[in-house]
Amino acid sequence: MKFLLLFVNILVVSNWICPVISKDALYEPVSKHGQLSVDGVNLIDEHGERVQLKGMGLFWSVWMPYFYNQTTVDGIKNYCHSNIVRPMLAIDTKDGGYLTDPEGETALIDAVIDAAIEDDIYVLVDWQDFEAENHLEQSLKYFDRLSKKYGSYPNIIYEPYNEPISLEWSTVVKPYHEAVIKTIRANDPDNLIVVGTPNYSQRLDLAAADPINGTNIMYSLHFYAASHRQEERDITKNAIEAGLPVFVSEYGTVNYDASGPVDVTESLLWYDLMEEYGLSYVNYAISDKDEGTSALIPGTTPDKVCREEYLSESGRLVVEHNKA
Ligand SMILES: *[C@@H]1O[C@H](CO)[C@@H](O)[C@H](O)[C@H]1NC(C)=O
Ligand SMILES: *[C@@H]1O[C@H](CO)[C@@H](O)[C@H](O)[C@H]1NC(C)=O
Ligand SMILES: *[C@@H]1O[C@H](CO)[C@@H](O)[C@H](O)[C@H]1NC(C)=O
Repeated sequence: MKFLLLFVNILVVSNWICPVISKDALYEPVSKHGQLSVDGVNLIDEHGERVQLKGMGLFWSVWMPYFYNQTTVDGIKNYCHSNIVRPMLAIDTKDGGYLTDPEGETALIDAVIDAAIEDDIYVLVDWQDFEAENHLEQSLKYFDRLSKKYGSYPNIIYEPYNEPISLEWSTVVKPYHEAVIKTIRANDPDNLIVVGTPNYSQRLDLAAADPINGTNIMYSLHFYAASHRQEERDITKNAIEAGLPVFVSEYGTVNYDASGPVDVTESLLWYDLMEEYGLSYVNYAISDKDEGTSALIPGTTPDKVCREEYLSESGRLVVEHNKA
């Protein structure tokens, strides 16, 4: 008994990467896992067990607002077998975004958050920006309100910067994150924050060399399997081995520009890596646009989201892994 206790203690305090057995995410909801936290490189639940979030990201809020509601989230949970949804708050596009319509865009994201809470799944709120350091004032305002309104729910996960283009981690991207983290933490001391890394969230190595001092922070990796291959998998592996907690907040089975075809071989290599390290992953996207990365076929409506006959080739591969 004494030996056993000692053993358990070693597991808890060390940085050891414990295996997580991948499961059907539909049966791993918030009511089962509750408050999330980061222990070493691992995402753990409120019982101290490893947990893996698997699910679906929405298309940009300005371009597919009709998917931002309860009907879609119900489909994502029940038919895409997800325990996480990622609304994508468009910030600054040629067709508008949060900078020009803060109220309208905020309402869209809130609708998805409310639906996720109703459906007992996690929700990752993405500030979809490539130059967020130029919109810090707006970002602080948004995350202050968001964390005040929803910070008490264990469902909420913050993603303050989708894909920094900048390679300047220590002098540009990291200070931005630190400012947003400070704002969020004033209202919400513990929910997970997933921070974007340089060059479209691919350069985990730069973050690993100079990590942020804080609790419950993970670093985002984005990959599109047909474009990003072994070199990016090696960067990911090395960063985790160096102690960086990683969260795949956006991935595609196709090319980086969202075009097809699906690269099954490379996608399976990525799934292997993500399972090996128990990483959480969120696919892009719940969209019926006629392009390779869409999980749905053209013309799919919210009430048909993730119904088998409406899944694209990519959608079928993704749902298969959310289930397994
Ligand atoms: C969600 O939006 C779709 C498309 O506009 C609509 O058909 C559906 O009724 C909406 N669901 C809810 C719960 O409002
Ligand atoms: C940045 O990302 C692009 C697109 O994935 C890639 O081609 C390029 O090599 C990366 N550059 C650096 C400096 O990491
Ligand atoms: C990290 O933050 C904690 C709490 O604010 C502080 O006590 C500690 O000195 C910081 N560590 C470093 C290396 O800056």
